[in-house]
Amino acid sequence: MLYFHFVFAIVLWEFCALKAECRETCICLSQEIDGLRNPIHIEPAKNEGENVYFIGEQIGIIYLYNPKQSLGNKLTAYINVSDRIVLEKNAHDERGLLGFAVHPMFERNRKIYLYSVRTLNERQFAVISEITSGDVGTERQLLFIEQPGDIRNGGQLLFGNTDGYLYIFVGDGGPIHTKDIQAQNTSSLLGKVLRVNVDATEVIDNKLQFYVIPHDNPKHAEWRPEVFSVGFRNSWRCSQDAGKPSGEGKGRIFCGELGGDIADEVNIIEKGGNYGWPVKEGNTCTNVSAKCDTLDNERTPVLSIPHSDKGMQALVGGPLYRGRDVTSLDGKLILGDVFGGSLFTVGEVNGQWKTEPLPFCDKGTCSCTAREHMSSVLLSFGQTHEGEVLLLMTDDVSIHPGSDRGRVLRMHAPAL
Ligand SMILES: *[C@@H]1O[C@H](CO)[C@@H](O)[C@H](O)[C@H]1NC(C)=O
Ligand SMILES: *[C@@H]1O[C@H](CO)[C@@H](O)[C@H](O)[C@H]1NC(C)=O
Ligand SMILES: *[C@@H]1O[C@H](CO)[C@@H](O)[C@H](O)[C@H]1NC(C)=O
Repeated sequence: MLYFHFVFAIVLWEFCALKAECRETCICLSQEIDGLRNPIHIEPAKNEGENVYFIGEQIGIIYLYNPKQSLGNKLTAYINVSDRIVLEKNAHDERGLLGFAVHPMFERNRKIYLYSVRTLNERQFAVISEITSGDVGTERQLLFIEQPGDIRNGGQLLFGNTDGYLYIFVGDGGPIHTKDIQAQNTSSLLGKVLRVNVDATEVIDNKLQFYVIPHDNPKHAEWRPEVFSVGFRNSWRCSQDAGKPSGEGKGRIFCGELGGDIADEVNIIEKGGNYGWPVKEGNTCTNVSAKCDTLDNERTPVLSIPHSDKGMQALVGGPLYRGRDVTSLDGKLILGDVFGGSLFTVGEVNGQWKTEPLPFCDKGTCSCTAREHMSSVLLSFGQTHEGEVLLLMTDDVSIHPGSDRGRVLRMHAPAL
């Protein structure tokens, strides 16, 4: 009998020890929303209710999602610009509605900013526009950026949480020839991060412009005044640090950058910085130009992921975790692979950025309140009102009617 108690105690002790280890090492996923077509962005609709979100689909629709009202997936469009954008129904098209940002004073001005790809006189443009109160009739176009190709169109928008300005992440537009890449040409808006103040207008050359240039933009002599930093190929998903309770870290912008042949990278976007493309990829010279060793204002990536690392196919940048549920992720940046179904983190330890895998909790050892599988394609990340991590995924990237296999998953700590 004594022997039995002894064995039982050991088993119990091991079980608890394993569970504590689970909370340190793995995550669980629950499904929050399904029936979407290529969800590309989700953002809390602050002041619209506790669990209310704006969700955008690449096909040009933004929903105001309220879980109390949208039972049975009957979502109604809040904004529908599907007839204004260009997007192929079949494949991995990098056009369409690629991002949006809700104005920080939305409860007063009802303004949402859109990043979409459109055609005009048979030319293709990345268009930044503003829509008020969900009424597409109010749409005002802020910027037209001509795209040399169909791909690498950028698409991230976000409002600075320390300065209130709109940041616009423009891809290089996918020219056919390397020599035509404009990411280092500071007179071009391609391959740049732009920063504008949308709370004022200005008349320039007898034309009303729906933004003004922030007084502290870099304004280097030859730079377009909108340009904040240069040298990007295609930043696919950037996020902003909400900061520690002390405010430390607040406003830092992290981007996942999709590289060419050599490496993907993670960057912290700084004013006036040069991130190297197409002269450099990761820390490697591409030999496109001789000036690789003498790039002005060069910023090196926080992390460079060589494509020779077979594990990684295409990087998706996610949020820097400041939530409460998954304590093991505190202060770490969440990242994923578009096709690989794997997640990982980057965290700063004594000034060095270190990467670690972020595994799903093993069924045999860790308990989860929900255990959803990832879909085959990771499109983007988001955050809940409380800063918990959301994943936007799909099993079908085509956008034919009926191909509504996009989902929003939420990350959790394993149950204790
Ligand atoms: C969006 O607009 C298009 C074109 O006007 C229409 O066919 C489609 O049904 C609309 N979608 C939604 C969800 O309202
Ligand atoms: C740089 O960009 C400007 C503005 O788009 C363009 O007129 C110029 O031709 C570009 N220069 C090169 C070398 O491509
Ligand atoms: C660039 O040139 C250097 C020197 O010739 C060479 O070692 C390096 O491999 C080249 N890089 C690429 C990406 O081709």
